[in-house]
Amino acid sequence: MSILRPVLLAAAPGTADLRGRERVAEQSRHARLALAMSAEKSGAVLSELAKGEHDAPLPSLGWHWSISHARAFSAGVVAQGQPVGIDVEAIVPRKQDVVPRVASRGELEILGGFRWETFFQVWTAKEAVLKKAGCGILELSRCTVVAAPTAELLVVSHRGREHLVHLLLRHRHIAAVSCDGEHAVEWSLEAARELAT
Ligand SMILES: CC(C)(COP(=O)(O)OP(=O)(O)OC[C@H]1O[C@@H](n2cnc3c(N)ncnc32)[C@H](O)[C@@H]1OP(=O)(O)O)[C@@H](O)C(=O)NCCC(=O)NCCS
Repeated sequence: MSILRPVLLAAAPGTADLRGRERVAEQSRHARLALAMSAEKSGAVLSELAKGEHDAPLPSLGWHWSISHARAFSAGVVAQGQPVGIDVEAIVPRKQDVVPRVASRGELEILGGFRWETFFQVWTAKEAVLKKAGCGILELSRCTVVAAPTAELLVVSHRGREHLVHLLLRHRHIAAVSCDGEHAVEWSLEAARELAT
């Protein structure tokens, strides 16, 4: 069984002060740092990080990759020869009307009922599966959480298949990763690096 090594990297001090395009560019750069760390831990050598249809990452030298950026963390993961998707979100209350668009009552019941924490478990798990498929949010309504075998594992149904999603809850953030094939998951939490100048 292979080991998946996703990395959560704390945002550099000062990122929260950035605005607009500058902030997006810094988050994008930062997520690629998390990706490089995952690649190093996985023994992967990546070349160009190109993207294709719907902005989905294309494999680099046979390594699939996925990144995500949230308020205080970025996330990155690589997987050899297998599609992979990652998502990280801060657990912060949103407008209540977003809840039914992302999570049904039945899905939330599987996780013990509605709390913002369970909402973001559903949200990140679906995003991880949809990023793995390369379609993103466009197929949100075709994705369903069908089981939670453990507190850190969800089963999501999408396009007639069941997908395992591994979750991590840290510092009021939830991260989710999904990869085809059999694998164990070893998360790493990395301390902040300086902002790029
Ligand atoms: C993928 C998506 C759900 C990410 O949303 P998000 O939560 O705001 O962003 P995250 O921080 O978690 O992830 C961002 C990363 O996802 C990746 N990504 C973007 N689109 C993706 C897709 N279709 N599949 C997989 N990964 C994707 C990118 O690498 C992006 O980072 P980058 O722009 O720095 O390279 C969203 O962008 C989406 O649904 N995109 C597809 C929709 C579409 O087709 N849009 C048409 C283009 S305008």
